[in-house]
Amino acid sequence: MLDCPGGASGFVAGARARGAEAYAVDPVYGPGVERVAERGRQDVRRAMSALDDVTDLYVWDVYDGPADVASHRWAALGRFLADYTASPGQYLPAALPRLPFPDDSFDLVVSGHLLCLYAEEFDHAFHVQALRELCRVARGELRLFPLVDFGTQRYDGLDDLLLDVERAGHDPSIRSVDFEFQRGADECLVVDAATD
Ligand SMILES: C[S@@+](CC[C@H](N)C(=O)[O-])C[C@H]1O[C@@H](n2cnc3c(N)ncnc32)[C@H](O)[C@@H]1O
Repeated sequence: MLDCPGGASGFVAGARARGAEAYAVDPVYGPGVERVAERGRQDVRRAMSALDDVTDLYVWDVYDGPADVASHRWAALGRFLADYTASPGQYLPAALPRLPFPDDSFDLVVSGHLLCLYAEEFDHAFHVQALRELCRVARGELRLFPLVDFGTQRYDGLDDLLLDVERAGHDPSIRSVDFEFQRGADECLVVDAATD
């Protein structure tokens, strides 16, 4: 499996604990754990202080409140740092739209909280190139979440992304997910990346 961007999150640690061979890619990775750890701590603090001002943009039935979110985020950071320290080779420094893997490397590629969410920072051309690259390295399935920006608006280039993926011979679909924390973030793009 590949998680890109992996960030300071616990997906790869959790997948590896269940026996999967999993890798993460993020431009923040690099030698030494302390720089990554500090960046992870800053991210949690920044996200939690931003959350206090926009609690109405979130659905409060998964978490009990901001303190509960913080506790989950600190726990995920702890799992990430333990795995990053023990197995640094699973965490590779690189950035979309170019990944350091041959075609068809992974059964499952997950990409969370970058594309669509940061639509203000990354233009549509970047979205197209990044999605093509994620599909290139997937031999099985790609899952992209969420499909909304921070204002809970669905990414307006989504139809064009789907067409581009179809033209490349893949099979995209948008599926509901039974997890909605950020309001409106209840859909996932799933691409069957296997080509005939
Ligand atoms: C909000 S975090 C998401 C991390 C994780 N997927 C999650 O859901 O918790 C966004 C991450 O995207 C990374 N990032 C920024 N630009 C990137 C790029 N061009 N390619 C890959 N990752 C990038 C950042 O370093 C950051 O760790």
